[in-house]
Amino acid sequence: MMLKDLFQSYVTVALMLVPMCILVSLFFRSRDKRREPPGPQPLPLLGNLLQMDLKRLDRSLVDLSKKYGSVFTVYLGPQKVVVLAGYKTVKQALVNYAVEFGERYVSPTGHDLSGSLRNGVTFANGESWKEMRRFALTNLRDFGMGKKAAEDKIIEEIPYLIEVFQRHEGQPFSSAQSMNYAVSNVICSIVYGSRFEYSDEEFRLMVDRANENFRLAGSPSVQLFKMYPLIFQWVSNRMRLKRNVAENRKQIKKLIGILQETLNVHMCRGFVDSFLAHKQKLEDLKIPDSNYNIENLVTTASNLFVAGSDTTGATLRWALLLMAKYPQIQDQVQEELSRVVGSRQVRVEDRRNLPYTDAVIHETQRLANVVPLAIPHKTSQDVTFQGFFIKEGTTVFPLLTSVHHDESEWESPNSFNPSHFLDTEGKFIRRDAFMPFSAGRRACPGESLARMELFLFFTSLLQRFCFTPPPGVKEDDLDLTPSVGFNLTPSPHELCAVSREGIKNE
Ligand code: HEM
Repeated sequence: MMLKDLFQSYVTVALMLVPMCILVSLFFRSRDKRREPPGPQPLPLLGNLLQMDLKRLDRSLVDLSKKYGSVFTVYLGPQKVVVLAGYKTVKQALVNYAVEFGERYVSPTGHDLSGSLRNGVTFANGESWKEMRRFALTNLRDFGMGKKAAEDKIIEEIPYLIEVFQRHEGQPFSSAQSMNYAVSNVICSIVYGSRFEYSDEEFRLMVDRANENFRLAGSPSVQLFKMYPLIFQWVSNRMRLKRNVAENRKQIKKLIGILQETLNVHMCRGFVDSFLAHKQKLEDLKIPDSNYNIENLVTTASNLFVAGSDTTGATLRWALLLMAKYPQIQDQVQEELSRVVGSRQVRVEDRRNLPYTDAVIHETQRLANVVPLAIPHKTSQDVTFQGFFIKEGTTVFPLLTSVHHDESEWESPNSFNPSHFLDTEGKFIRRDAFMPFSAGRRACPGESLARMELFLFFTSLLQRFCFTPPPGVKEDDLDLTPSVGFNLTPSPHELCAVSREGIKNE
C-alpha cells in the first residue's frame, strides 16, 4: 500500500472515530445525568437559591422533597447538595450505607469553627477523627455517661438553676442564659473536672460566645459566605464568629494549662486530664506522630462544649415553653411526678416508672427538632443509592425535619402529642422515626448524657415550678416559631416560674 493511501485510511478512520467518541461520551454523560438524583433546574451561579428561604432552609427542602422525592439534588449557590428526606431514606443511608454516607462535609464555617480540619470530632474525618471520637466516647462514659458520675454531676448543678428561677419570684423572665449556663456547666464538669459559678465572668463569656456562634452560623449572611466564600468572607457575622472562636480557644488553652500544672496521671479529674495522661504515655513510649497533641485537645474540648450546650439548653427551653402552652399536659406530668417520686430528688432509674413524663420529653425533642439538617455529611466514595448515582465527595443533608414530620410515621406530625410515645395502656413506647441524635457513624456521641440531662433538669424543674405565660398573654399566643440559627431554638420569650405549693426544696 502506498504511503498516501495509508495516510488517507488513517484519516478516514480518525474522522469516523471522532463522532463515535463524541456520541459514546454523550451517551455516558446523559446516562450519568439520568442516574443522578433529580432536582429543580439550577441557575448559573445562583443554583436554586431563589427557591429557598435561607431562614428556614429545612422547610424549603421538605417542600422540594414533596415534588422531587426522598433523594434529590439542589444547588445552594454553586454548591451541589444531595438531600435525603423521610425516615426510611435517612435511616437506610446513615445505617445501611454507613461508610458511604459517613464522612463530614466541612464548610468554610466548619473551617472557622474548628481551627484545623485534622483536629477534633465534629469537623474532622479519617484516622484522627476516629481516634478522637472513640476517646471522647470512652471518656464521656467514664466521666459522665452511662455511669453514676454523670447523674451526680447533673444533680449537683440542678439547685443552682432552681435558685436562679426562684429569684424571679413568679415574675416573667427569660430562661435562655441561665439554662445555657447550667447545661454548659455539666459539660465543663465532665471535661475540666469542675463546675463554674454563674457569676464567673470568664465562664459567662465562654458560654455566651458559644451560643452566639450557633446563631451566627445559621444566619443568612454566614450561609452566603458558605456558598460564596470569596465574596462574603468579610461579612460582619462571619468576622464575629471567628473572633468568638479565637477567644474561646484562648480560654480553653488557659484552662488546660492550669490542669496541666497539677496533673496526676493516676487520678484524672476529667476528660482533659485523661487526654494529657494518654499523651504523656505515648510520649514515654516514644510513639511518633500521635494525634494526642494540645491543638487536638483544644478542638475536641471545644467541640464537646459547643455541641453539648446549645442543643440541650434549647431542648429544655422548648420543653418549658410547651408546658406553658399546654397546661393540661403540664398538669399530667406533675401529677405523675407527685405520685411516683414525690418531693425527693428524681434519679435516672425513676424514668421507667414515669412513662408519661418520658413521652413528653421525647415528643418535645421530636417537635423541637433542634438540629434540623443534622450536621452536613459527605460521601466517602461513589455510591449508587436507591438507584441514583452519587459521586464521592458530594455534600449530603440528612433532613431530620422530614423524619420528625414524616406523615407515614407520625399520627399527627405537626402537633404536640405525647401519645406518639404511649401505647393504649399508657406505657412508654419507642418510635423508630425518633432521630434527634441522627444515626450511623456520625450519630451524636453525647446522646446518653443529653438524655440524662433532659430528664433530670426537666423533672426537677417541674417538681418545683408551674410554667405559665406572662400575665395578660394567653397560652394560645405563645409563639412556637423558632429563631434563625444553626439550631432551632425558641424565639426570645419570657415565662413565669410559679413555685408549686407543698413542694419542699431539698
Ligand atoms: C439534646 C441534645 C443534643 C442533640 C439533639 C444532639 C444532636 C446531634 C446531632 C443531630 C448531631 C449530628 C449527627 C450527624 O451528623 O449525623 C450531633 C453531633 C455531635 N454531638 Fe450532639 N446532640 C446533643 C447533645 C450533645 C452532647 C451533650 C454532646 C457532648 C457532650 C454532643 C456532642 C456531639 C458531637 C461531638 C457531635 C459530632 C459527632 C461526629 O461528627 O462524629 N451532643 N449531635
